[in-house]
Amino acid sequence: MQVTQPLTPQRVREIAAGFDLRALPPDFHANPYPVYAALRASEPVRAMPDGSWFLTRHADLVAVYRDAQVFSSDKKVEFTPKYGAGSPLLEHHTTSLVFNDPPLHTRVRKLIMGALTRRAIADMEPGLVTLVDHLLDGIAVRGGGDLVEDFASAIPVEIIGNLLDVPHADRAPLRGWSLAILGALEPKLTPEQEELGQRSVREFLDYLRVLVAERRRHPGDPEHDVLTRLIRGDGAGEQLSETELLHNCIFILNAGHETTTNLIGNALVALQEWPAEKERLLESIGPHPDWNALEPLMTLAVDEFLRFESSNQLGNRRALRSCQVGGVTLPEGALVTLCIGAANRDPAVFANPEMLDLRRENNRHLAFGFGVHQCAGLSLARLEGRIAIGRFLARFPGYRLTGTPTRGGRARFRGFLRAPFAIA
Ligand code: HEM
Repeated sequence: MQVTQPLTPQRVREIAAGFDLRALPPDFHANPYPVYAALRASEPVRAMPDGSWFLTRHADLVAVYRDAQVFSSDKKVEFTPKYGAGSPLLEHHTTSLVFNDPPLHTRVRKLIMGALTRRAIADMEPGLVTLVDHLLDGIAVRGGGDLVEDFASAIPVEIIGNLLDVPHADRAPLRGWSLAILGALEPKLTPEQEELGQRSVREFLDYLRVLVAERRRHPGDPEHDVLTRLIRGDGAGEQLSETELLHNCIFILNAGHETTTNLIGNALVALQEWPAEKERLLESIGPHPDWNALEPLMTLAVDEFLRFESSNQLGNRRALRSCQVGGVTLPEGALVTLCIGAANRDPAVFANPEMLDLRRENNRHLAFGFGVHQCAGLSLARLEGRIAIGRFLARFPGYRLTGTPTRGGRARFRGFLRAPFAIA
């Protein structure tokens, strides 16, 4: 069980003063929360050695998220030297809605939200249940396997594939492209990681050009097909350009992969570390799960998993002018890292923040961000979480880890690469 022990005030100051996102200590990924707690207490708006700022308090993150006029998401300034002018990664990340500001962001977001309707999400549920149960059948036959490889990671790729109606035969490379492109957002990149990211954007674009051309020739039912609606636009003449369409399809396909995989994987590992919470969930499921009765508790539980081990731990903004955050003056151009993982354990907002409490009400976590860029896929992510975690638990209540899970080892996306388990 990961409970952060109290540290002496001097130790807290030392940890905060030594924190550098680009030079993390080897034990950081196993448990970053004592470091985050030290930063919140001692240097909540920390000036980093590279000149950027690292924010850990919930109230400060909310203030930054709220003020999209001052805190820009546009990454052209930052990413041009990082990826190189004219490079595929630069074009991709600077065309995705998440890395743009209003008014461009507002237009693209409206078109995307118009395509990701409540009905489109609700339509996903039967396919999701079938997929999850099929994976569980395979696990039952094998007596276990790997929580990430055999279960958590197999769900989002299919679900997002279904959302855009990508033919099943074409789906194999999607996860690899997605991991490589998002992996290239890490603060420090090896030349190999960068090259893989660039190649993955090129290959993904080549694939989508063919898929979109095919869908233009043979549109799907716009009531149900998200890609057809994205191609058509809002029906009042507003449409995405071809470049916007392709890159935002890549972004939608990517945004829902690793984040949702990690939600499911992190939850199933956390339940092993918090057996009393697992029992609580199991008691409410009972031997024959009534999904309607289970729904309210699973809804709270999924949000608590998102708070406790946020799959996306870091966000970024750039200050367009000099401003104050948490009493500290930031200069014009300041690069700001928003530490969601730290804000989600802020004792100023959450009672017993280091405890996994699946019945936590009024959970104001920031796992989906906040404000104009708040996650456009949060309903789909929550649906996937409820169904995957709930059905897994109902089917294999006695599952147990058979080895130490292997962490992904990245600061931004928190999750496991492998977590071997047996069903009893
Ligand atoms: C557990 C799963 C997920 C987590 C933790 C998550 C987290 C986030 C966060 C933190 C942001 C805000 C980024 C910022 O403010 O800079 C975001 C934005 C976004 N997410 Fe998610 N996400 C998840 C799943 C999904 C899924 C399944 C989809 C697709 C259907 C999706 C699509 C998007 C899109 C399109 C945006 C950009 C919104 C905008 O800029 O207006 N996400 N997500």
